[in-house]
Amino acid sequence: MSSIVLGVTGASGQPLAVRALKLLLENEKSIDLILSKGAYSVWSSENNIKIPIDTEKQKSFWSDFLEVNTQRLICHKWNETSATIASGSYKTDGMVIVPCTMGKIGRIANGYGQDLIERAADVHLKEQRKLVISPRESPFSLIHLRNMCQLSEAGAQIIPCIPSWYSNPNTLNEMIDFMVVRLFDTFGYELKEINRWNGKK
Ligand SMILES: Cc1cc2nc3c(=O)[nH]c(=O)nc-3n(C[C@H](O)[C@H](O)[C@H](O)COP(=O)(O)O)c2cc1C
Repeated sequence: MSSIVLGVTGASGQPLAVRALKLLLENEKSIDLILSKGAYSVWSSENNIKIPIDTEKQKSFWSDFLEVNTQRLICHKWNETSATIASGSYKTDGMVIVPCTMGKIGRIANGYGQDLIERAADVHLKEQRKLVISPRESPFSLIHLRNMCQLSEAGAQIIPCIPSWYSNPNTLNEMIDFMVVRLFDTFGYELKEINRWNGKK
């Protein structure tokens, strides 16, 4: 079975990545996970949590933190550019980067793949596989917008996590779930039932 690559970068909004990881694991998807160097810093700043960099320790961290079976999870180091997912010969269903920094967007849009997230994204574009990028910045500069335009032209889907009010969320978690589930629509995954628009006026 092919895996899905989940890239997590150092933007605000780590709960979106946490929820995506948990829902994927609960739905028994195989996942190749990469946290960028920046993501570890944001976890320290925003959550006061030090995520282990060692890949096996990180796997057991996620198992405890998410209270879910992590048998199908492979954690990669941000600079491990010889990893499976750095090659187009390793099959995947596609890749999602959530949340995605403007730095990552700039480097991927311009073919400047330095770390493993950037290289894996580059591979997904060259292999014409699905690449979903969920940007997190406000406001966007003209440079950010141009880079996203370039990525869209190259085949990536740009899906910012923007809440929907028509889904009538009662809690922040319901709002997060709606946005996270929508990121995986293009893969045909239904990670959780959400209140999709049903045409009622
Ligand atoms: C608490 C915190 C929040 C941040 N939020 C964002 C953000 O929303 N968007 C962004 O582009 N950069 C944000 N940054 C800056 C990035 O983390 C920084 O540019 C980092 O070098 C990105 O590395 P990466 O792209 O490899 O993850 C944030 C930094 C910190 C410490």
